Amino acid sequence: MYTVRKVTDDLYYVGGDDRRLALFENIFPIPEGVSYNSYLLMDEKTVLVDSIDWAVTREYMVNIARVLDGRDLDYMIVHHMEPDHCSAIELMLQRYPNMKIISSEKGVMFMRQFGYHVDDRYIEVKEGDTISFGKHEFTFVEAPMVHWPEVLMSYDSTDKVLFSADAFGSFIANNGRLFADEVDWDRDYLDEGRRYYTNIVGKYGTFVQKALEKAGGLDIKYICPLHGLVWRDNLGYIIDKYVHWATYEPEKEGVLIVYASMYGNTEFAAQALASKLCEAGITDISLRDVSNTDVSTLIAETFKYSNLVLASVTYNLGIYPKMKDFLNDMAALNLQNRAVSIIGNGTWAPQAAEKMEKFLDEEMRLMDVLPEGLDIVSSLKSQKEGDMDAIVEGIKDSMKKRREEKEKAASQKK
Ligand code: FEO
Repeated sequence: MYTVRKVTDDLYYVGGDDRRLALFENIFPIPEGVSYNSYLLMDEKTVLVDSIDWAVTREYMVNIARVLDGRDLDYMIVHHMEPDHCSAIELMLQRYPNMKIISSEKGVMFMRQFGYHVDDRYIEVKEGDTISFGKHEFTFVEAPMVHWPEVLMSYDSTDKVLFSADAFGSFIANNGRLFADEVDWDRDYLDEGRRYYTNIVGKYGTFVQKALEKAGGLDIKYICPLHGLVWRDNLGYIIDKYVHWATYEPEKEGVLIVYASMYGNTEFAAQALASKLCEAGITDISLRDVSNTDVSTLIAETFKYSNLVLASVTYNLGIYPKMKDFLNDMAALNLQNRAVSIIGNGTWAPQAAEKMEKFLDEEMRLMDVLPEGLDIVSSLKSQKEGDMDAIVEGIKDSMKKRREEKEKAASQKK
């Protein structure tokens, strides 16, 4: 049996799903699995587009043999050398002794670093190079740092297919589906698509912007990523998401409240703020306990919302460790351009608020720390209600300011 699906008349999906892996890159939880995508073009030449992770090698080999149906394999294009896409290269070189690899110069270098015996069985391509496989002509586009430096994308001008490497991918196994229009992507995949992008490629927004500019000049009918579903409909939807994420523009006006609380006092303040925000009409809120929410989910939500509220108890005269990890991750992933409100708590030497503000100022870019804050001494008292109201007003004002700036920028574009 096989798990092949047809993308176009000449192009077949031959990848597979991994539902056994708990942590992608041994760090990101993937409770709904992930797919490793590979495509096989049947033209005058046969061309395998990318490889897969070891986890799905057996079905990959079966799928390829099924589509080849006795023909030899002429080429394998390697767009990206991260091992979730290249584990079977050595096996394929052995199984198909006439097969040549097409990759970037750095891609070939990485193959050797990973110990693959490519010998002289490769063709190096660079920006703008084209190769004809018969009816289909591929143009190669360099996309460094989307997500590694060797990354290529390629464009089949015959069927107008963009092979986009890690870009436009998502967590969640394909489960027999192939196209994004076979699911309710906005409802069921957007959160995981955002979590995938922001945690894996989020740091490299400027490089993603460059790749998007290059892709903008192409007439694209299909986007075939290395993970997740293929896009053939409503491409503007996913491109718009990528433009927001790559430029660090919030997707939504709303508030992510992340709290670090040991015994519930800081949590109570976070909850009280959420209630006040809702009373004030700001109901698009995510309230998260930093201690029991995976940081990859927090990161994804920081890319989603316009406003953050960080509420932390003081711990060892500093920021609570889990909150510090979250701050470090935000800085590492280059998150910027958010309005942040701060709530600190401490019983004998409160330090968390001051240190969070210092971190945002010194370690991150374009983070607007709002002047309205709240200092709690051990537990929230009713005398602090005015401070809490001021935070709400500060958040409302920052949202209004962002809206006005956006409108101004839009009118200047006209
Ligand atoms: Fe899916 Fe960067 O590899």
